[in-house]
Amino acid sequence: MVLDRSHQQLQRISNVYTTVEEVDDMNKNLTVPTGTNVDLLNQLTVVNMDTGRAWSEIEPSAFSKNTINPIRRIVDAMNVQPNPEKALLKLHIGDPTITGVLPTHPQVNAAVLETLLSGKYNGYGPAVGYPEVRRALADHINKTCSGSDVRADDIILTSGCSHALEMAIEALANPGANILVPRPGFPLYETLMHPLGIETRHYDLLADQNWQIDLKQMESLIDEKTAAIVVNNPNNPTGAVYSREHLEAILRLAQTYRVPIIADEIYGDMVFGGAQFFPMHSLEPKIPILTCDGISKR
Ligand SMILES: Cc1ncc(COP(=O)(O)O)c(C=O)c1O
Repeated sequence: MVLDRSHQQLQRISNVYTTVEEVDDMNKNLTVPTGTNVDLLNQLTVVNMDTGRAWSEIEPSAFSKNTINPIRRIVDAMNVQPNPEKALLKLHIGDPTITGVLPTHPQVNAAVLETLLSGKYNGYGPAVGYPEVRRALADHINKTCSGSDVRADDIILTSGCSHALEMAIEALANPGANILVPRPGFPLYETLMHPLGIETRHYDLLADQNWQIDLKQMESLIDEKTAAIVVNNPNNPTGAVYSREHLEAILRLAQTYRVPIIADEIYGDMVFGGAQFFPMHSLEPKIPILTCDGISKR
């Protein structure tokens, strides 16, 4: 029913300016969402005779078109009717809070409330985070993890672990560089790297060896353009928790080739069945490691 404007274009405009309930505008023989400002639509589509351009021709950037998150694509479009004959096994999407078995601790709720009510933190904070928070995190890490020697200055606060990963990748790699990431693995790494022109190189996790990393194959992927190795431990999606020896073997490889590590340790607090988690920064050899963590899984 749309004559001279694509539905997608209208949808985009309507998402920005109004609600998405559709009605037929008979005068214009055009389907527009209820409440859409038609003057505004005309303004957007009329070409400026001097410049030859219309607002409606604004195209999404190449960067945004190259930013594809396969998990979101699946989850957002998912509408699965469970088979009533079978028990439902909920795998969720890495959100341990969804069933309510991990409620937020009352102390955390109280602290957040107190902070809000204090009115002290309504303005802009330092770009890297408040010093007292960075100090508290450094103390926590050093207290709970032997071998750690982290200073407040080593810590940067980000908007979740995803943002930390983004910053780590952008800090280390230029367009044309490559970064090694696990397969199977968390797809966000590639989502972040692809639009920046950073090549994703997959190293394999071995199903018949408790999902350990195939170190030989990992080594074969490293070249002079390798800017980092992403190590995700404990691992999503395999659930593997790597031994100290395995992690140290990875560190030795990184040491040999002088490649920094991006350690995605967001699930560090979630190990079961007697497994022990070793943060990479606490191990030998000491090499440059950007650890990415967060509170979304706690
Ligand atoms: C392995 C891994 N890293 C990072 C993240 C992102 O964490 P956040 O939600 O704190 O951005 C997730 C979230 O599912 C994850 O599974």
